[in-house]
Amino acid sequence: MADHKQETTPYVDALLEYSALDPGRFQVPGHKGGIAADPAMVALVGMTGLINDIPSVTEGVDIGPEPTPFQQAQILAAEAWGAKRSWFLVNGASQGNHATSMALGHMGQRVVVQRNVHSSIIDGLVLNGMRPTFVAPELDPELGIAHGLTPESLAAALDATPGAVAALVVSPTYFGACADVAALAEVAHSRGLPLIVDEAWGAHLHFHPDLPPDALASGADLVTSSTHKIVGSLTQAAMLHLGHGDRIDPAVVDRCVSLVETTSPSGLLSGSLDAARRQAAVHGVELLGETLEAIKRTREQIVQIPGLDVLDESMVGRPGIAGLDPMRLSVDVRGTGSTGYRLAKKIFYSHGIDLELYSENVVVAIFGLGEPAEATGERLAAAVRAAVGELEAEPGPPQEKLAPPPPWGELVMTPREAYLGPQEVIPFEDAAGRVAAEGLAAYPPGIPNVLPGERLTTETLSYIRESIAHGGYVRGGSDRELKTLRVALER
Ligand SMILES: Cc1ncc(COP(=O)(O)O)c(C=O)c1O
Repeated sequence: MADHKQETTPYVDALLEYSALDPGRFQVPGHKGGIAADPAMVALVGMTGLINDIPSVTEGVDIGPEPTPFQQAQILAAEAWGAKRSWFLVNGASQGNHATSMALGHMGQRVVVQRNVHSSIIDGLVLNGMRPTFVAPELDPELGIAHGLTPESLAAALDATPGAVAALVVSPTYFGACADVAALAEVAHSRGLPLIVDEAWGAHLHFHPDLPPDALASGADLVTSSTHKIVGSLTQAAMLHLGHGDRIDPAVVDRCVSLVETTSPSGLLSGSLDAARRQAAVHGVELLGETLEAIKRTREQIVQIPGLDVLDESMVGRPGIAGLDPMRLSVDVRGTGSTGYRLAKKIFYSHGIDLELYSENVVVAIFGLGEPAEATGERLAAAVRAAVGELEAEPGPPQEKLAPPPPWGELVMTPREAYLGPQEVIPFEDAAGRVAAEGLAAYPPGIPNVLPGERLTTETLSYIRESIAHGGYVRGGSDRELKTLRVALER
């Protein structure tokens, strides 16, 4: 049960009190509480938003007697998520991953990293200069998607990486698969190492007993949380949570958060975190309970549509899946004879519905904490039903199955050396044998085929070409058409 303190929003209140004073504004931002704003900006943000767009370093808001309202809001967030300390982030979970990477170690130190982490963690490796050992997640060959990491794979990777200073994993995945974080933490802790979890997709997990356990409660030491994703702060507003162990020094994390943060954090973004925290802490159980019930009904409607199935609890227990987040409705479209790409486009262009994610075999709709999912779920199911019917009448070309991806190439430089060091751009066809200076990940399943610092192989390059020919797409290359690749110069 949420305590009384959680019902307050100290930082939001401080912003509102400040703007209610109608102060003369002779500081930034130049729109001066909206009076100097272009009408387009007013139309976009509204005068309320502009009046409350208050800069940092404002007396009684984030400076003055401590704990300031800004500090109080972060303390409440730490209490709400069960953290020793929490930081508000205004550059997304990406900032959390950058700060985490900087806090772990640097230049040549070893770290074990799940291969299909978000690009912000790879960018973190470029920032910190560490030498990663990558661990493959479990792959679902039928659905062509990646799940979580097993404790056995993590243990093997750590044992093969003497001197590793930490293990970095992601849970939940884009498809809602939650790893057994408690077992992963045990594997890392038994070797004296911290477990870092990118829980960008799981900020809500802490707030309902029917959801898979959250990473902090499972023993993780540092957890990145993309609060804006499902808990619903403003886009970009995220948090970093420190666990209760003593494997990570909060002072170092604090300095690293500042290192990768603007000196002008938006009060609106941070305020939205304070408000979203209250909603989750005070009303989360009730709101999530209602949403989960409504999603159950949407699932039932979806599975009744010929050719569709949903990823459900029956997957739990497969390698890399200790739980499934029901706030994501992942729909298996294989039985329709069409692809997730075609279905998602049809749903968007003919029915005005945007999905979070789609791959060859699966499309994913996500629900938010507090969403009136009865009505939105009905709308989704109706659109999917209609779109499947329409696709039946216009079948696409037959789909050939793509072979599984080849093993990734040997890491011959750190990602930092390859990404930031001397390099050149060469034709894609000439790249085999060279060292990649940029990453490439073919979707599906989205596990990077190439990361900066790895030797490019003929097999990998052909796989990427094949994947595109199959209707997939490749993320990461600076040449979107992939006519050229950026490679490192070896000394
Ligand atoms: C697993 C994961 N981590 C981190 C991020 C980065 O989050 P943000 O967009 O809040 O920076 C994402 C974004 O999609 C993600 O999926």
